[in-house]
Amino acid sequence: MNDISLRISDLKHQRDAVILAHYYVDGAVQDIADYVGDSYYLSRVAKESPHPVIVYAGVRFMAESAKIMSPEKTILMPDPSASCPMAHMVNEKDILAVRARHEDLTVVCYINSTTLVKAYSDVCVTSSNAVKVVSKLSSRHILFIPDRNLGSYIAGFFPDKSFLFLDGFCPIHNIISANAVRNLLSSYPEAKVLAHPECRREVLELADYVGSTSGIIYEAARSDVSTFIVCTEEGVRHQLMKDNPSKTFHFPVSAPICPDMKKITLDNLAASMEHMSHPIEIDENIRQKALGSLIKMHELAG
Ligand code: 13P
Ligand code: SF4
Repeated sequence: MNDISLRISDLKHQRDAVILAHYYVDGAVQDIADYVGDSYYLSRVAKESPHPVIVYAGVRFMAESAKIMSPEKTILMPDPSASCPMAHMVNEKDILAVRARHEDLTVVCYINSTTLVKAYSDVCVTSSNAVKVVSKLSSRHILFIPDRNLGSYIAGFFPDKSFLFLDGFCPIHNIISANAVRNLLSSYPEAKVLAHPECRREVLELADYVGSTSGIIYEAARSDVSTFIVCTEEGVRHQLMKDNPSKTFHFPVSAPICPDMKKITLDNLAASMEHMSHPIEIDENIRQKALGSLIKMHELAG
């Protein structure tokens, strides 16, 4: 172990902390984490963790979701500015305006949303549980926010429901073009295309498999194909290569990188545990309101 890894390991014991990392953070940070996974898996780990301190190597909505579920725990963000831009693309006024127009409506918010938006929503989802959760909703109208790409992908499973969207999207996934995927396919016609549902419809139409970051990683390991075109943030390459050293992974020409996820480093992770910085704080009133949509997600997703 090098110096910084030893320091992190010491601090973790001193603070009785657990480190959770998303697949999009730097490989070195993933390697030092106790748990690495997709948003849903990490939210379950955070909820069930016996440790009083959770260090979140990810973006703000993930750390806030952990705090909403477990207010008694200290949730630390190594870089408090790491935030998902899509989470800020809708607000509570947008929700109220749609609610005023539709009676038989459920507001489904992707976990990549602010705490306030969760507070005004009925249920939360992640990319790995959205189909299951929506299948258990009885209302005819679904307002799916903020991600219109994920929303329209999920809507395809429910032809009897009427989906409404606002204008949210992930700038990282939205930039992946069908042409970039086609170009790769012309060089590697035998490749299997794996895509995250935050990609645009025309990219998903080229995909052999659509799923969350964990889903993509499991599918690559399970498949007997050895060449893949991966349409998601390039951080997943780290786990893909670990699990499948003999397989080849190609990413669309302009490699999709989430700059916010990359703000987490070994240095700020260590500093965060050393100084107990930067703890998530949420107004108790808003937390109580947002809790309902997360509890409902965990209930319905099972
Ligand atoms: P996953 O839930 O698939 O890990 O996705 C999180 C995310 O931010 C995708 O951009
Ligand atoms: Fe947000 Fe996209 Fe980054 Fe995921 S990859 S955290 S959706 S900006």
